Amino acid sequence: MKVLVSDSLAEDGVKRLQSGADVDVITNLSPEELIQKIPDYDALVIRSGTKVTADVINAAKRLKVIGRAGVGIDNVDVEAATKKGIIVLNTPGGNTISAAEHTIAMMLALARNIPQANSALHQGEWNRKKYTGVEFFNKTLGVVGLGRVGAEVATRMKSFGMRILAYDPFVTEEKAQQMGLTLANLETVLREGDFITVHTPLTNETRNLIDDDEFKIMKDGVRIVNCARGGIINEAALAKAVAEGKVAGAAVDVFTKEPPTGNPLLGQERIITTPHLGASTAEAQVNVALAVADQILAIAKGGLPTNA
Ligand code: MLT
Repeated sequence: MKVLVSDSLAEDGVKRLQSGADVDVITNLSPEELIQKIPDYDALVIRSGTKVTADVINAAKRLKVIGRAGVGIDNVDVEAATKKGIIVLNTPGGNTISAAEHTIAMMLALARNIPQANSALHQGEWNRKKYTGVEFFNKTLGVVGLGRVGAEVATRMKSFGMRILAYDPFVTEEKAQQMGLTLANLETVLREGDFITVHTPLTNETRNLIDDDEFKIMKDGVRIVNCARGGIINEAALAKAVAEGKVAGAAVDVFTKEPPTGNPLLGQERIITTPHLGASTAEAQVNVALAVADQILAIAKGGLPTNA
């Protein structure tokens, strides 16, 4: 099997792939270059950087599998791949903890103005009053989406003494009770949350799930976190809600277009940002690289992937 790895993949994963396949690692390909190269390969391994469009898929001649080292497959035209009988697989468990921990780090940074205070102090400003924050204790955390990452965030945030109110149409009352969480409809979660964090995939149903009308329902001074996918929260609506003071601050790791040039979320002091770092830990990168490699090798041997 000939494998093209077109985004940077942890070395352990590349080595694992090399144990059973012929592997080329060629990153930063332009869309045209990828279209030129893809006919030579049986498998394509990506992270979030490579956009596997219908044009790429249609240019493929022997491609059997697209492996995403990570969770979101919104950078793959799954419909076009399925039409050509190409398997699309991902590695759902490998970066859950890292993504949950990054969400919590962003939430803490947001509550205590850490990035702003850090950058002011580096510029010589000692201002303790300006950077007064808020506690988590006795506050309500609204969690939209209780999948792997949402569930890990929710259960960890209980230890701060927060009340967790979660919306997820696919989670049963029984499961929520086991996790010590209260389920509610989206409107209630938005209305009662002091902090709101989103953890859904980006689909046609979740795009702009939180928009101007949803911000109107929220408490004044709510704080918003998006470490899931750009576009679940409408970026212009969030920027406006922060500018108007309805939202006290936002922490954003993901953007509709990455890198986010000209994005309305950039440039406001009360919006803190990171460049899609949720899964960027040494541990998660090894986990997802090995998980994708093992599945590709299973297919090479005529077996089945675990997460297609
Ligand atoms: C994922 O979908 O796995 C995360 O957003 C991390 C990534 O895109 O690499």
